Amino acid sequence: IFRATAMEASKLVLRRAFARSASSAKRRVVILGANGGIGQPLSLLMKLSPLVSDLGLYDIVGTPGVAADVSHVNSRAQVAGFAGEENLGKCLKDADLVIIPAGVPRKPGMDRDDLFNVNAGIVQTLCTAVAKNCPKALVNIISNPVNSTVPIAAEVFKKSGTYDPNRLFGVTTLDVVRARTFLASAKKLNPSEVDLPVIGGHAGATILPLFSQASPKVSLSTKELDALTKRTQDGGTEVVKAKAGKGSATLSMAYAGALFAEACLKGLNGVNNVIECTYVESSVVPGLSFFSSKVRLGKEGVDEILELGSLSDYEQKGLEAMKDELKKSIEKGRKFVQSGG
Ligand code: NAI
Repeated sequence: IFRATAMEASKLVLRRAFARSASSAKRRVVILGANGGIGQPLSLLMKLSPLVSDLGLYDIVGTPGVAADVSHVNSRAQVAGFAGEENLGKCLKDADLVIIPAGVPRKPGMDRDDLFNVNAGIVQTLCTAVAKNCPKALVNIISNPVNSTVPIAAEVFKKSGTYDPNRLFGVTTLDVVRARTFLASAKKLNPSEVDLPVIGGHAGATILPLFSQASPKVSLSTKELDALTKRTQDGGTEVVKAKAGKGSATLSMAYAGALFAEACLKGLNGVNNVIECTYVESSVVPGLSFFSSKVRLGKEGVDEILELGSLSDYEQKGLEAMKDELKKSIEKGRKFVQSGG
């Protein structure tokens, strides 16, 4: 018994020492679009993260104010604000992780693809600067339409000769957060104890929650399953309508963005078995070169893309139904850069 206890104790000491070194690793995080509805609360959440040692905040306007404000929080990260394109390169220098929530959000009646014309150019410009100033950084794309902006980023990096598919991520965490919350509410569970994968993309029918893989296991009638799936797919639109012209999800998105960013940092720091759903270059579903599914994050970004696992008939139909739309959105992003932006 003594030997077992001593071994447990030494394991604990090792685990604690590891946790300390993982969280004291120096990590520079940069947020592009930091003055926006998402950017501001995301800046605060990243300032609160013990995993961040340096926080660079960039926007075309307003970042000195956001940075001054957030910098007064007594947490580890050193904060600096950079405004205007001439300061973008300086902000990106030495970044380990770049988060991009820059761009226009939806108004009632718009779908995410309606944002393409404006946001495609913004993502292209910002990723060109990433390729030049911090080509090894992990990049988390929040700007919509994610189904197209991630392929845009990939093409920009390819053109620059810096593309590493393991370092480019579309942030779909908000869909997972929503599915967990909605399922918990339907089944009267604690939302923080519910988990399930959401696969596909980040727009309407391309968002596919896998309630058959939920933990804890739940049984849902077809009516309940249909309602929960639709609510997850339309979660963004629910917020857009409620905000009545004042934008889309910002607070819950900042939370989800911070959750995913921290997962990326943990992976970089060598924490084992960090798994999140994210939209990456993938061969999990033949014919779809980008797809969101469970990914193990590691020291170089994507460590492994996990198999989808078994899907119910309902989910299999959902997967078939999204394919055309997702494929078109990927192509649209690719062509935007290939045809000169
Ligand atoms: P917002 O309009 O409040 O903020 C956008 C910010 O981007 C502004 O501060 C603006 O100055 C900045 N910006 C514009 N052009 C820029 C450039 N070239 N460089 C740097 N910054 C630039 O919009 P909000 O609500 O923060 O949304 C941002 C994006 O996130 C939208 O495209 C929205 O659709 C998307 N979004 C994505 C979600 C997801 O789950 N992935 C969820 C919710 C929103």
